[in-house]
Amino acid sequence: MNETVAKSASDASGRLAPPVNMAIFGAAGDLTKRLVVPALHNLARAGRLPREFSIIGVDHNGLTTDAWRQSLADEMRSLVQTGRGAEQIDNQAWTWLAGRMQYLRGDFTDSGTYRELKALAAGHNHEAEAGGNILFYLATADRFFCPIIKQLGQAGLTKQSGDAWRRVVIEKPFGHDFPSAEALNEGILKILSEDQIYRIDHFLGKEPVQNIMVLRFANGIFEPMWNRDHIDHVQITAAETVGVEERGRFYERTGALRDMVPNHLFQLLAMIAIEPPASFDANAVRRKKTELFQAVHPIRPENAVRGQYGAGTVLGRPVKAYRDEEDVASDSTTETYVALKLAIDNWRWAGVPFYLRTGKHLPARSTEIAIQFRQAPYALFRDTPIERLPPNILTLRIQPDEGLSVSFSAKRPGPEIKIDGVAMNFSYRDYFEPLAAVGYETLIYDCLNGDASLFQRADTVEAAWCAVQGLIEAWASGPAPGFPNYASGSAGPAEADRLIARDRRAWRPIGRAQPRMEPKA
Ligand code: BG6
Repeated sequence: MNETVAKSASDASGRLAPPVNMAIFGAAGDLTKRLVVPALHNLARAGRLPREFSIIGVDHNGLTTDAWRQSLADEMRSLVQTGRGAEQIDNQAWTWLAGRMQYLRGDFTDSGTYRELKALAAGHNHEAEAGGNILFYLATADRFFCPIIKQLGQAGLTKQSGDAWRRVVIEKPFGHDFPSAEALNEGILKILSEDQIYRIDHFLGKEPVQNIMVLRFANGIFEPMWNRDHIDHVQITAAETVGVEERGRFYERTGALRDMVPNHLFQLLAMIAIEPPASFDANAVRRKKTELFQAVHPIRPENAVRGQYGAGTVLGRPVKAYRDEEDVASDSTTETYVALKLAIDNWRWAGVPFYLRTGKHLPARSTEIAIQFRQAPYALFRDTPIERLPPNILTLRIQPDEGLSVSFSAKRPGPEIKIDGVAMNFSYRDYFEPLAAVGYETLIYDCLNGDASLFQRADTVEAAWCAVQGLIEAWASGPAPGFPNYASGSAGPAEADRLIARDRRAWRPIGRAQPRMEPKA
């Protein structure tokens, strides 16, 4: 292991976040329990939270502070047991954090809730010297985003004075199409200024996603090849083995396109495709992203495929069809799979197709970006037995088995010229100590420090919705799709294979073990 790198990656000491009082709306909800609070625990354990830190949890459930803390601790324990989150609970960090938590029962639409919150926050400020800084975290259903912000404004809670800041974190989904995202922005920007708003996309909390900018811009070898002269095409895949689980009601009105494409997949697209920003300043990065999304051609229906899973077997377990899931209509036309071909209208990418796909109940959990380079010219191998040169592919593995690999051709040892595809591999686990993380640590920490570079600006969100708006409308007004059209556990609908085969290309197998390529027999 590279000692220097490993040490710096595991170095828990770092800059403390500033004094702050955090108010979490949706305190008794799933997101708070599974992600926000475990991330705060991990930050506390890493020594990143200041002594002057406190949390007020707001929700309508009739909980006491003790019962709330207990339910959070129980969920953390179950996350540890099932390996879905923190590696273990650090008792000292948990006691430190839990001692700073207070529960406030209140209706999100009732002004009384905000009067109480204000009084509590003032008390905390006084007590904990939070300096008037408050971070409001909206971990609620999206229909509450605007009403909560309005109430915060009316209660005077969003007003900043002197050095004291007020920020609001808004979870996904940010709108359900372009007009609703635009209306939401308009509503909240009447009360907050853009620099107070932190629109989260949790894919940007993933280390390998943050690493893409470093890979591209901190190394001299990639950027000169990073363009239409050298790249044949790019494939972005977010494959999941899970179905809709208990989220049938939400998923029925959302579907795979809205749930994954203009947000998570576009974040991956942005990291790969943006022009180098002038600095890491939030606005410099976000300006480039917005420009990129504006350069995406509106997606035409003939360049998109939707699918819905039928019954099948996933990871050896029989699973039911989407239409048989709880809270799902028996004739549902909601898609659980989408594949798209995108074109980007700029000098770097003109003519380079980006193929995106995501789906539920696929054969493996795998999020990856594969950049396939153009073939080498053949001339040299004309009179040899070599019929086909394997392509050079740079594969960025976002999850699981975070890392990247580069595949290339090598001469098989022996007197004849025979070529094999081989690969060089980098895995995070070989170089860095694993950090206990649920993926929200950096996002929350950045927000406390006022660094918005990993958060979405109003125009960025709108540009992303705009790119898929035509497709949303075409699918809504077109004939009902013949669902289900892929079996659970398969790689998706056959139509998706035809979409890419039209261009004489093929999807990469989902979740194939990396990095070694199969040597030729
Ligand atoms: C969420 C979607 O935003 O992202 C889910 O609503 C999806 O449907 C999830 O499963 C995927 O995130 P991750 O981090 O598990 O890949």
